[in-house]
Amino acid sequence: MADVVRNKQVIFKDYINGYPKTSDMLLTSDATVCLELPNNNNDGPLVLTKNLYLSCDPYMRNRMNKSMEGSYIDSFTPGSPVIGYGVSRVLDSSHPDFKKGDLIWGLINWEEYSLIKDTSSLIKIQHTDVPLSYYTGILGMPGMTAYVGFHKICSPKKGDTIFVSAASGAVGQLVGQFAKLYGCYVVGSAGSQEKVDLLKNKFGFDEAFNYKEEQDLDSALKRYVPNGIDIYFENVGGKMLEEVLRNMRLNGRVAVCGMISQYNLDQPEGIRNLFLLVMKRIRMEGFIVFDSYHLYPKFLEMILPLIHEGKITYVEDTVEGLEHGPAALVGLFSGKNVGKQLVVVAHE
Ligand SMILES: NC(=O)c1ccc[n+]([C@@H]2O[C@H](COP(=O)([O-])OP(=O)(O)OC[C@H]3O[C@@H](n4cnc5c(N)ncnc54)[C@H](OP(=O)(O)O)[C@@H]3O)[C@@H](O)[C@H]2O)c1
Repeated sequence: MADVVRNKQVIFKDYINGYPKTSDMLLTSDATVCLELPNNNNDGPLVLTKNLYLSCDPYMRNRMNKSMEGSYIDSFTPGSPVIGYGVSRVLDSSHPDFKKGDLIWGLINWEEYSLIKDTSSLIKIQHTDVPLSYYTGILGMPGMTAYVGFHKICSPKKGDTIFVSAASGAVGQLVGQFAKLYGCYVVGSAGSQEKVDLLKNKFGFDEAFNYKEEQDLDSALKRYVPNGIDIYFENVGGKMLEEVLRNMRLNGRVAVCGMISQYNLDQPEGIRNLFLLVMKRIRMEGFIVFDSYHLYPKFLEMILPLIHEGKITYVEDTVEGLEHGPAALVGLFSGKNVGKQLVVVAHE
């Protein structure tokens, strides 16, 4: 007889407005799971996993809305577990691509064990000579986002000046390092002195500032990027975007990766200065990393040697225990995380 065990889960309670709270999610141990697949099932290929690491990502807030206009992804289902990227060990599988003992990363429920029916997002981990948690960040979705956003959308040229907002986060810290390796002049903004120090001393940014301490973002940008910005890697939106547009150079590019400052507002803010796109012949382009996963093998080929040679570094902010997942996720929206926020569910 296969073991049946309790399965701790984080349940999404109901759709929200405004800032998310830990109380919007509920930790339960009500569910049970059998640690072996049923012999005969008609559900198609299944993968049973033990979950090790969970990723906290800003887009998860958007899944807490009842509806998301034009979205590429569904809202969470009230009463069901929160869903996010994670790293897991396969305990049992009837899927031809995955076998017992494999490590995978992809979309999983926030729970200790998962019986995965929709296996379309799962990727088998082939390289284990790096920290496994990296597959929530540098070697996972945020890493791919930085890679595609910088190399494809920003159309960089050696010598360009790039400005990155939310620069010390999961995506931003990599964009800055990719840009440095490419030969760009790199400036970043972040929300604390600790983060600014990281940008300059660990990630090699040429300049960085704490946007929360600047009364006037336009004059801050003029001080830190006096010759203007060729590329803006946009993570935050709102006032920062308005002021960056004033400081862009002719033929600049704005890669719109995200706009975290807008995710908790009931009404999105308007953006002034858009006519500058015309005046300065700026290309502003949004992108979604999901469209580029076919580039993942190429990305790994590029990034693994850089990690091994110490040419790229990655800072993670780790909390231990599924029960701390909700607070870690909520913390993204006040900048509590320093680096890539992840949750350890089990160390195997
Ligand atoms: N397009 C895609 O496919 C894609 C994929 C992944 C991520 N993204 C987007 O990329 C951006 C960065 O994601 P990430 O995973 O790297 O997150 P992150 O930077 O690791 O964490 C979020 C950070 O955003 C900053 N922040 C929070 N609220 C803010 C506000 N109101 N105004 C300005 N900054 C705020 C905080 O840093 P500070 O302390 O510096 O304020 C916080 O630490 C997000 O907008 C996300 O939605 C897009």
